[in-house]
Amino acid sequence: MTTATLSFAAPYLIQQNYSAYTEEQHSVWAELVGRVLPELERHASRTYLEGFDIIGLQRDRLPNLQSISARLRPRTGWNSTPVSGFLPAPAFFEMLASRNFPTTTWLRSRESLEYTPEPDIFHDVFGHVPMHAHKVFADFLERYGRVCAAISNAAVLEKLGRLFWYTVEFGLIREGSETKVYGSGLISSHGECLNVVGGHCAIHDFSLDEVLATPVKVDELHKLLFAVSSFDQIYEAMHQAEKRALNGSLN
Ligand SMILES: [Fe+2]
Repeated sequence: MTTATLSFAAPYLIQQNYSAYTEEQHSVWAELVGRVLPELERHASRTYLEGFDIIGLQRDRLPNLQSISARLRPRTGWNSTPVSGFLPAPAFFEMLASRNFPTTTWLRSRESLEYTPEPDIFHDVFGHVPMHAHKVFADFLERYGRVCAAISNAAVLEKLGRLFWYTVEFGLIREGSETKVYGSGLISSHGECLNVVGGHCAIHDFSLDEVLATPVKVDELHKLLFAVSSFDQIYEAMHQAEKRALNGSLN
């Protein structure tokens, strides 16, 4: 789907000026990728690693969003769509509902490799977009946007935000006897990933009830995260959450 139908998000849509990136910025990208990739090759979900190849991410050059979208669209209909920065909720949900992933184009500086208060292109593309090549995950993400776009109750949206946080941002998945990371916050943060793979964080089997009852804390490393058995589980959880939102039991 194109961006022509977006109304809430329209003021935030920009073009990525790819040729304006400097060699220093490409080199910061390469350093960011280089410091996490060895761990991810061992600890990331195979779905993430396959997606990384499918969308054509490069280790030493910043991603060109048009090229990424051109590879992604034929598979799942998703686009990596450039935006100017943080989006208000209606604009964010509207974009997800139309399979346009809001993607920032700025890159953190070499002085803040580990942490940025707001998402940058490393978090958004390296962290998120490879998962959008997976059909069920892609369908889940659109459904999430579609459901949230129709809700105005802040308490309900906060609960649904927990589902997003503990899957899209900080989700894990069981693969055979191993537990692998796929959430963008684990993929794109060296410290968060080490916290989990180093055994400093409890990992419970995913349960929608427990996820909805677990508030999000953004100012400390996680002490509890959740592992799904397959991505069908988050699609089904979204379906259940939607039913609860409609019958008033998420308030
Ligand atoms: Fe994110």
